[in-house]
Amino acid sequence: MSVRLGDIAPDFTAQTTQGEIKFHDWLGDSWGVLFSHPKDFTPVCTTELGYVAKIKPEFDKRNVKVIGLSVDSVELHEKWESDIGETQGTPVNFPMIGDSDRTVSNLYDMIHPNANDTFTVRSVFVIGPDKKVKLTITYPASTGRNFDEVLRVIDSLQLTAKFKVATPANWTDGKDVIIGAAVTDDEAKTLFPSGWKTIKPYLRTLAQPK
Ligand code: BEZ
Repeated sequence: MSVRLGDIAPDFTAQTTQGEIKFHDWLGDSWGVLFSHPKDFTPVCTTELGYVAKIKPEFDKRNVKVIGLSVDSVELHEKWESDIGETQGTPVNFPMIGDSDRTVSNLYDMIHPNANDTFTVRSVFVIGPDKKVKLTITYPASTGRNFDEVLRVIDSLQLTAKFKVATPANWTDGKDVIIGAAVTDDEAKTLFPSGWKTIKPYLRTLAQPK
């Protein structure tokens, strides 16, 4: 079963490098990022985990919990983590799911048999505090992910959850935003009393609300 935007993120209980986790309970009121790796002791994954460990304070600042997964065991993850700390400069500081029996991988459709019938692809799921899936991204095994992009999308998701705005191409935190298409000019006058710029009737921009 594929997991689509707006779906409730499938719940599960799994063994991780930080003990048994019941996923929804572990998320609590936080946002979450669940991301998969094809296999332990592989080069691209090693750099990805090291990078996520390094920028974990950025996830913490945004009230986002991160959790990794690969289809190897927790014991293997623990051995691999010592290499990651040694080579990438930051010890892995978030849980890694041991999914040897592929329960979670199958639940989230992380194995794409026409790419590889054994290993997970590089999936990313961003989950909101309502447990709904807000973002899915799938990368091939040969391409390391851009986790700064994941943070950028989280900034947009958190902003647009709060205000009736959308964010334009390549937007980053602090840049101008777009008034949501469903917002009428009359409603916009109440929502954004400082005003906005109308480029086209359907393209109205304003400074990022705080
Ligand atoms: C890697 O992480 O380097 C990798 C994993 C599986 C297939 C190809 C590359």
